[in-house]
Amino acid sequence: MLDITIDKDQPAAEFYADLTSSAAALVDGEPDAIANMANVAALIWQYVPGLNWAGFYRVIDSELVLGPFQGKTACIRIAIGAGVCGAAAATGDVQRVADVHAFPGHIACDADSRSELVVPVMKDGKVIAVLDLDSPLPDRFTPADEAGMTALVGAITNNLG
Ligand code: SME
Repeated sequence: MLDITIDKDQPAAEFYADLTSSAAALVDGEPDAIANMANVAALIWQYVPGLNWAGFYRVIDSELVLGPFQGKTACIRIAIGAGVCGAAAATGDVQRVADVHAFPGHIACDADSRSELVVPVMKDGKVIAVLDLDSPLPDRFTPADEAGMTALVGAITNNLG
């Protein structure tokens, strides 16, 4: 087991550099995508404040299927294009949503969720999964969170599927 300690109070760029190197170390040499998603969801849950859900959906047979996560029980299957996760999967673009109630088709798995960040996991030009982060705080996710989580996902993509 790795001994990971990350200073939550340092500036975002340094925080995400540490989070990304910790995630990369966790998945290093491990080919099982489910095990890696489980550990990365736990890492994010432990160190990123203000979340009520953190985890993955995987693209299986042209829909999103619930993967490893931390938080309350969640919707199991989401159609590509539906809600915030479905939009990320359909477009391949990060979705950073300040107010989920204003997002057309938002799927309220947890009524507490107010803002959301979804980062697609891309392999060979295709979306193979999404990293979904939900917060009970309005407008929780900053451009620095988007950049940091995008870099984190990019660093571990080869071990996620
Ligand atoms: N709110 C999401 C659904 C997934 S859960 O929040 C875990 C969405 O609209 O994509």
